[in-house]
Order: sequence, then C-alpha cells, then structure tokens
Amino acid sequence: MSREAALAGVRVVIDAGPTYEDIDPVRFLGNRSSGKMGFAVADAAVQAGAEVTLIAGPVALPTPAGVARRVDVRSALQMRDAVMRAVDGADIFIATAAVADWRVAEYSSRKIKKGPSGAPVLELVENPDILAEVAARTPRPFVVGFAAETDHVAEHAREKLVRKGLDMLAANHVNENIGIGADDNALELIWPGGSESLPRASKAELAKALVARIAARFHAQLRARA
Ligand code: PMT
Repeated sequence: MSREAALAGVRVVIDAGPTYEDIDPVRFLGNRSSGKMGFAVADAAVQAGAEVTLIAGPVALPTPAGVARRVDVRSALQMRDAVMRAVDGADIFIATAAVADWRVAEYSSRKIKKGPSGAPVLELVENPDILAEVAARTPRPFVVGFAAETDHVAEHAREKLVRKGLDMLAANHVNENIGIGADDNALELIWPGGSESLPRASKAELAKALVARIAARFHAQLRARA
C-alpha cells in the first residue's frame, strides 16, 4: 500500500480547536487553542485517502480541501453531540480539541452587572469527557487522544492512555512558544507497548508523520483481529 493511500476508504473523525463555555451573552470561558494542529491532522488524513469529518470549535481557519464534512460547534456539550453522531460507523477518532473541562453551572441570559457586593462567584460543573466516552463505546473506532501538558509530559501521557483506554496518545508540551496557538509543535507518541518522539516541526509536518503512525497501527490492529 502506498503511503498516500494509507487510509484509503477509511472514515476518520477529528475534533479540533477550543470550546467556549458561555457565562452570559457577552462573556465566556475559553482557551488558547487555535485549531491549527487539528486542521493539519485533517489535511494529512485527507492526503492519506481518508474520508474526513472535522468537528471544529470556534476557530478562524478555512476547511482543508477534501474534507468531506465540517461541523462547527461552540461549547463542549455541542462538540460532544456532534462527535457522538459522527463516530457512529467511523474507523478512527482523533481528539485534538482542547475541550473545556468545566462550564458554568448556570448560564445567565442577562449580562451580569457589576454591583456593590463585588465580583461574582462562578460555580463550575465538569464537562463530559468526549474522548473517554468514545473509547468506552462498543464497537468503537481506533481512538487517538492528545494530551497538553506543561510538565512531566511522558508520565501524564502514559497515565491518560491507560485511564482512558486509548489506542494511541500524542502528548505535547505547551507553553508560550510551542504547542497551543503556535505554528510548531513536538509530539511524544505513546501506545500500549511502545512510544516514539516526533521532534519540533511545523504542525503540517508533524500531522503527516502522526497520520502515517496512526495508519500503521490501525492496520496492524485490523490484521491482529482478522
Ligand atoms: O489548536 P492548536 O493551537 O493547534 O493547539 C493544539 C493543541 C495543543 C490544543 C493540541 O495539540 C492538544 O494537545 N490537544 C489536546 C488538549 C487537551 O485538552 O488536552 P487534555 O490533556 O486536557 O485532554 C486529553 C484528551 O482528552 C484530549 O484528546 C482532549 O481532546 C480530550 N478531552 C478532554 C476533556 C474533555 N472534556 N473531553 C475530551 O475529549
């Protein structure tokens, strides 16, 4: 099989970008994810022959050519609904999105006003873990998670791989210069029984390398099950 056709006919779902958790009509909780990593992975998967569905949080990026479907969402709950619909019958799920871990317990439909009693206290509730939910499905696609860490990258990543029951995890160190929001990244790939470092490069280059590794392990898993 040629490298270009490594995912020919394979249905791949990718989530990308941040989620925004609205507090009131003018404010939200968000993060610095730009969607660049996920969109690069979508582009690389298309180049590898896959039929790609891209679930995008609020990002300012054009859809890579050849993506079969793009679904735009805002919040973690919307992203979860879109992913759950899309992964039915999918072969591979790649979770590059920086999903907000929390949302406000109660959205205020009116703008929260400054008042004499000082700053408001926001009560937060946990968002569903989309990646863990996909990994827990039967049958399930080949599941690839990402992990954004500021320290002890390999340690935290191995723990997430096992806890969420993933087939592969791509961990990245995030700070002001690399990873989140930046054009470059570096990935530590981990799977049950192995690992590989992909050194600093553009997100486009890394995405190509990542998709090649995913395709190899996906096909190895299919052969092992046959
Ligand atoms: O968008 P860019 O600016 O290009 O930046 C890329 C990136 C740094 C955001 C990306 O490479 C990355 O690391 N994405 C995962 C960020 C993250 O939220 O990591 P986490 O360690 O908090 O989550 C671990 C995994 O669980 C991720 O696959 C995440 O998508 C998933 N998750 C997390 C929480 C949640 N509620 N649902 C999830 O599915």
